[in-house]
Amino acid sequence: MGMIEGHMVIEPPKGVPVWDIDPYDPTILVDPDSYYAELRSKGPFAYIPKYSILACGRHEETQEVFSDHERFVSSRGVGLQDFHLEKPWRPQSLVVEADPPYHSKTRKVLMRALSPKATGALREVFQAAADKLIDELLERGSFEAIVDMAEAFPTTVFPAAVGLKSSNKRALIDYGAMVFNGLGPDNALRRKSMAMGPDIVPWITEQCQRKNTQPGGFAATIFEAVDAGEINEEEGEMLVRSLLSAGVDTTVTGIGNALWCLASFPEQYEKLKADPKLIRPAFEEVLRFTSPVHSFCRTADVDTNVAGVDILKGTKILCVLGAANSDAQKWPEPEKFDVTRKPMGHLAMGSGIHTCVGQNLARAEVAAVLTALVNKVDKIEFNGQAEWRPNNAIHALDTLPIALTRIGLADNNR
Ligand code: HEM
Repeated sequence: MGMIEGHMVIEPPKGVPVWDIDPYDPTILVDPDSYYAELRSKGPFAYIPKYSILACGRHEETQEVFSDHERFVSSRGVGLQDFHLEKPWRPQSLVVEADPPYHSKTRKVLMRALSPKATGALREVFQAAADKLIDELLERGSFEAIVDMAEAFPTTVFPAAVGLKSSNKRALIDYGAMVFNGLGPDNALRRKSMAMGPDIVPWITEQCQRKNTQPGGFAATIFEAVDAGEINEEEGEMLVRSLLSAGVDTTVTGIGNALWCLASFPEQYEKLKADPKLIRPAFEEVLRFTSPVHSFCRTADVDTNVAGVDILKGTKILCVLGAANSDAQKWPEPEKFDVTRKPMGHLAMGSGIHTCVGQNLARAEVAAVLTALVNKVDKIEFNGQAEWRPNNAIHALDTLPIALTRIGLADNNR
């Protein structure tokens, strides 16, 4: 059996077009829309020889593969590597890289820690932090919104919500970038991220220990499960690590992408100001429209068939969530950002048993920021060129120069 990028080499299945493209090319990663459209136009699957994978980008098949945990497993890795064939760069996640029945045990603990009740209790704290941040940014008028807003907010509220005794903003953000770049091929992005490992990984691993967490946070709930005998101490630490891996970069991206959408489509921001009940659906539309997680993989664990295509056991499938979320078969006029759309069924938070366990928290954080904006900010405008940052799994901005105008200021100046 031949190997490539840590997984089995496959021949193109009968009837599947061969597509000579590199989906991890930085020019595609920063501007993926035409790649998404071409992938969908190829049919349910395309065979990509560069990595010997199948890619899917139509909503129907992407959802089928992504959510069928029996045929398409996560325990063999959600990136290009197949953990049956190659050792992962870090100990395998006990949740996102696990299958039932084990996954059910760890997921249950995280669901308790991140329950609607636990995250709902943080609403006031999040709102106060968001109000303070937006007031400070309004004082400055213009700023670089990725560092000063999108990164600033989660790295202020999230470590406290987890119950970390100490925090390191840069390490948390760079660790997230590392985890997500780690899902791609052995390209420059992955190598650059991995090179940061010696500086970051020991710090992250240490913060996951019980002695470095305090009562009242999500970590405390996880360690209560240890005390109750549901999981052992090492598993508890690994679950805290899952929060630190998946809970920062994603939310930073959600906030940055939301701000970019509102600056790009000012008439949609007007609608949001006029009707703040649209804040929640508006964030769902941001998730659909910009797909913070652009692609994750699954591995076929049996010989199977999807949409008439025979798929061999061991095949790596790139599920391009960004393409599925812009499929016209699923949503009318998908290229339009519409805060009133209420896009039920988008795949930005996943689908099936691995659906994002932190989604209540992410939504609460972003809702606090959007609420502060609509209450205080009249106009959100670009103050320079926004640039996207290539990452092997995340579609996020690198720089976002923004100018805010305070509500009432225009009237006072008249
Ligand atoms: C906008 C923010 C977020 C986005 C777009 C997002 C996206 C996703 C996606 C697509 C998955 C599915 C992965 C798969 O099926 O292989 C997932 C799972 C997961 N997410 Fe999130 N996420 C976000 C925020 C968070 C936060 C704040 C946390 C933690 C506090 C978190 C923790 C997790 C965990 C632990 C899983 C694995 C769940 C499982 O395998 O059962 N996420 N997320």
